[in-house]
Amino acid sequence: MTKRQFPSWSELRPLLRVKPVEWDPTERRLRDALTIADLRSVAKRRTPRSVFDYTDGAAEAEITLRRARSLFHDLELRPSILQDVSSVDLTTDYLGKPSAAPFAFAPTGFTRMMHHEGERAVARVAQRRGIPYALSTMGTTSIEDVAAAAPDARKWFQLYVWRDRSAGEDLMARAKAAGYEALMLTVDVPVAGARLRDTRNGFAIPPALTVKTVLDAATHPAWWMNLLTTEPLAFASLSTWSGTVGDLLDKLFDPSMTIDDLEWLRASWDGPLIIKGIQTVDDARRVAAAGADAIVLSNHGGRQLDRAPVPLRLVPDVRQAIGDSAELWVDTGIMSGADIVAALALGADATLVGRAYLYGLMAGGERGVDRAVEILTREVRRTMALLGVSRVGELGPQHVRLP
Ligand SMILES: Cc1cc2nc3c(=O)[nH]c(=O)nc-3n(C[C@H](O)[C@H](O)[C@H](O)COP(=O)(O)O)c2cc1C
Repeated sequence: MTKRQFPSWSELRPLLRVKPVEWDPTERRLRDALTIADLRSVAKRRTPRSVFDYTDGAAEAEITLRRARSLFHDLELRPSILQDVSSVDLTTDYLGKPSAAPFAFAPTGFTRMMHHEGERAVARVAQRRGIPYALSTMGTTSIEDVAAAAPDARKWFQLYVWRDRSAGEDLMARAKAAGYEALMLTVDVPVAGARLRDTRNGFAIPPALTVKTVLDAATHPAWWMNLLTTEPLAFASLSTWSGTVGDLLDKLFDPSMTIDDLEWLRASWDGPLIIKGIQTVDDARRVAAAGADAIVLSNHGGRQLDRAPVPLRLVPDVRQAIGDSAELWVDTGIMSGADIVAALALGADATLVGRAYLYGLMAGGERGVDRAVEILTREVRRTMALLGVSRVGELGPQHVRLP
C-alpha cells in the first residue's frame, strides 16, 4: 500500500506559477498560436468571411490544394540517429545568395485587404528575418513604396504578361530602378481559375458596401475601421478596377503568350529570371533550356487548374531532368517547417510560402507575419535536428518516403 500524507504549504508554494498577463490582445493571440493552423484559426475570426475565403480558398472543388496538403501530411520522414546536431544551420541559397531560412514569401495579390499593414509589413519582416520577398503585380502597395519600407530586404518583382506589353516593360523598369533583384514570371494564369468561394460571397474589388458587408462590419469592426481610415484599397500597378479578381485577370492577361515570349522578357530584363507555375517535367526542361535561373514548381496554391499535379511529387523527376542548370524551388500546400524540410530532402533547393504568412498577416499584421516566420523557422530547425541533419545541404532522399 502507498503511504500518503497531507501536502504542506511549503511543498505547494514552489509549484505555484502565475502566468504573466499579456494585456495586448494581438500579442496574446499570437503567443497562443503555436502552429500555422492556429494562425489560420485566428485569421478566420479576425477578418470578414469574404476576405478570409479569398485567401484560404482555391479553384473549383479545391481538389488541387487538398491533394497538395495531403501529400505533405502522408509522407514519412526518416531520421538518421547519433549525428551531431548541436548546431543547426538553416541558411539556404536563392539565386546563389544566402537566405536565413529555406523559405521565401511568395507573391500574393491584394495583401492590404487582408490587413491594412499589407505588403509593407511583409517586406519589413523579410528584411528583419533575412529572407526574400516577391511583390505581386496585383499588389496593393507600389513597387517604390515597398522598396522604401524595406530598403535592405531582398526583393523580387512578380510579373504577369499583359496584353499591353508596354505596361509590363514599364513595371520592369520601375522594379529595376527601385532595386529589385530578380523578376519572377508567373506562367500558370493563361486565364483566371474559378474561385467559387469569391463568386458565392459576392467578393469584389474594392469591397462593395452591400447589406451583407455592412452586417459583417458589425462583427469585424476593427478590420472595417482600418479599411476605411487608411489609404484606399487599390491595385498599385493598375488603373482603377471594379469587379471580381477573375474578371480583372481575364481582361488584362495575355492568353496567347508562349515560350517564345521569354526572349522579349530577356530583352527587357537583364537580371535573374524566375519562372513560376511549372507543372510537368517537360516544361521544366523547356524553361531551363530557355535560360531561367530558377524554376518554381507550383500550381498557384491550387487557385488555377483543379486536379493539377502536386508540385512536391514532381521534385525528384524535375531535379533529375534539369540537373543544376537552374535552381529548383517548390510551393503549394506548405503549412509547417516539416513540409519545407521534406521538399528540400526530395531535391528542391528552396521553397516559397503563400498562405502560411498571409494567415499570420490576417491574425496580427506585421507581428503576425513575424510569428509565422518564427513558427516555421523553429519547426524547420527542430525537424532537421530530429532527422540528424545540421545543414540544409545534408538533406537527401534517404530522409523522406512518399506514399
Ligand atoms: C491570396 C493569394 C493571392 C495570390 N496572388 C498571387 C499573385 O498575385 N501572383 C502569383 O504569382 N501568385 C499568387 N498566389 C500564389 C502564391 O504565389 C503561391 O504560389 C501559393 O500561395 C503557394 O501555395 P500556399 O498558399 O499553399 O503556400 C496567390 C496566392 C494566394 C493564397
